[in-house]
Amino acid sequence: MISHDEQAPRGQEPRPTAASSRRVARKDILLCPPRYLELTYEINPWMKKTTPFSRERALEQWEALVAAYRKVDAPGRIELVPPVEGLTELCFFGDSVFLCEGKALFGHFRHKEREPERAAVKEFLLARSFRGFEVPEGVVFEGAGETMLWNDKILFGFGKRSDEVVRHFLRQTFKKDVVDIEMEDASFYHLDTALFPVHEELLAYYPGSFGPIDTATIESFDCEKIKVSEKEARAFACNSIVWGGVVFMPTGAPVLRKELERRGLGTVEVDVSEFLKFGGGIKCLTLQHYL
Ligand code: ARG
Repeated sequence: MISHDEQAPRGQEPRPTAASSRRVARKDILLCPPRYLELTYEINPWMKKTTPFSRERALEQWEALVAAYRKVDAPGRIELVPPVEGLTELCFFGDSVFLCEGKALFGHFRHKEREPERAAVKEFLLARSFRGFEVPEGVVFEGAGETMLWNDKILFGFGKRSDEVVRHFLRQTFKKDVVDIEMEDASFYHLDTALFPVHEELLAYYPGSFGPIDTATIESFDCEKIKVSEKEARAFACNSIVWGGVVFMPTGAPVLRKELERRGLGTVEVDVSEFLKFGGGIKCLTLQHYL
């Protein structure tokens, strides 16, 4: 819901972080290779420790994704982040931070298994020219997994992972209206697994992951909407991204792909099947800085 005049709970402000003295230019998208990716825990319904997983295959798929981005990239807008041993899911680099207009809002993970990633992400980004803020201790915010800038407002998913209260911190930090949307299905636990703003006038979403009120909110947006089927949503079709004017989407979503192409959009299909075993896809692998 959009609210204009709410204040954050008393005494709870998004705190500025200490700036780093090293300052290098920031890039528009950041990716971290799945060098240490491993199925060592289960924190969503997609993850089963018994599923056969090939890290080599994951690295190949990740490299193919980066190569596809580079093909449409204006030079130098992609930054590759060094992996850190022990941080198995650091390849989903944006899950503890939202980057918008030069500011970074750092969050905390719901699961202790991922919380150690936070410090590595923070250290890396504060060495870039981002102004850092963080939600208070004890508040869960899973960053770009739950947050998107669209038509100058912030779309924010909560309920399965992030805490609803974060909408206040988003509003205060970025000075934008926030539309919060509750996630209802454990398989679609982050907003970016179920909703994909393609451009200003087009949005794709999987209705099965939202309740009636939030579906009505999404339907009330003044734009065209494409409803994604459960089958394609399960192939992580909504976990797509637009980069360089092209839609990067996973294999296994031919209907959405056709719908996008019918509207004149270029698409590139990338196989991210190894990442689906973690409940992640293309967008989870790509931390975007919204400008
Ligand atoms: N296994 C990870 C988790 O459950 C996957 C995160 C995917 N990231 C995303 N932005 N949807 O936290």
